[in-house]
Amino acid sequence: DAVERGEYAHYMLKEIHEQAQAVTDTLEGRIAGGRILTQIFGVDAAQLLAKTDAVHIIACGTSYHAGLVARYWIEQLAGVPCTAEIASEYRYRDPVVKEGTLFLTISQSGETADTLAALKLAKQRPYLAQMAICNVPESSIVRESSLVLMTRAGPEIGVASTKAFTTQLVALALFALELARSKGLDAERYADGVRQLEHLPALIGETLKLDGEIQALAAHFVDKQHALFLGRGTHWPVAMEGALKLKEISYIHAEAYAAGELKHGPLALVDENMPVIAVAPNDRLIDKLKSNLEEVRARGGELYAFVDETVAHGLDAAHVVILPAAGEIAAPVVSTLPLQLLSYHVAVLRGTDVDQPRNLAKSVTVE
Ligand code: AGP
Repeated sequence: DAVERGEYAHYMLKEIHEQAQAVTDTLEGRIAGGRILTQIFGVDAAQLLAKTDAVHIIACGTSYHAGLVARYWIEQLAGVPCTAEIASEYRYRDPVVKEGTLFLTISQSGETADTLAALKLAKQRPYLAQMAICNVPESSIVRESSLVLMTRAGPEIGVASTKAFTTQLVALALFALELARSKGLDAERYADGVRQLEHLPALIGETLKLDGEIQALAAHFVDKQHALFLGRGTHWPVAMEGALKLKEISYIHAEAYAAGELKHGPLALVDENMPVIAVAPNDRLIDKLKSNLEEVRARGGELYAFVDETVAHGLDAAHVVILPAAGEIAAPVVSTLPLQLLSYHVAVLRGTDVDQPRNLAKSVTVE
């Protein structure tokens, strides 16, 4: 163990710090001259993408959160209707499939029982194809899929998924951008998306330098019973992923809400004992999010805001962590990193088994 973990106290911390390399590896050979190579999605990918009129994404846990981010990208960039759904519901609800729909599973292990069962069901429905985004080449999900795009995160040992998630986002961004190009996305927006992916490893390295600052923040959470995560747009699933990480390894009850839902219920929970973590990079919803955060402050909530410097000014939060500015593709990846670090440091302070949290298995191969 100690050899493989090298200088790191836990696999999870090592895997967090491997993300720039994992993203570099996942992009390797997939972009040339500012263009995503269409054939990485299969030999007939150009025809397939042209025929794709809808996308059904199916996954569990962290992989499902990656799918939720992709839903925004696919609809915003490609203008193609997309749903993202947990596999355990999909497999039992008699899904209706319209012609021209692509089925897409996301899985780190490729062995998750519900995702695999959903894929087998999908093979009996009139989908265009069953594509998988997966991290384990010899897995069941890869074998059962007609098209595969591998993430190249390398082995992920920590039960709490980190580098698998960020590489899934990268693979999904490649897919969303290429689908969008085939549907006539504006050339400049496409080129900008590709540039953001190419610049991502550097941005990840820069963001991980915040480790010390986040470690100091973690002390505020040690005695908390609950935490509320907020985001909007693609940062809502990022907030969901942050909440999942915190509950998984620190055993603090954490929930994520789309910030616009606050006053429809969860605001009643907010008081000085409820830390509220807002993931708020500078996107088109920032002004709406800022007014949601004012509601939290007005109720005495302890606000932790992860924002880029263009937003930090005038933000009334008790704790502000400044992230590097990033565009629509890179920002969900960048914003995920401090949340991984936060849950890691809180768990270490609480003395839990970070790499092997109670009651959980790395790969859920039974229903
Ligand atoms: C995340 O930290 C998890 N441990 C869990 O939610 C995981 O993402 C889920 O079980 C799906 O696994 P998969 O990606 O291997 O299919």
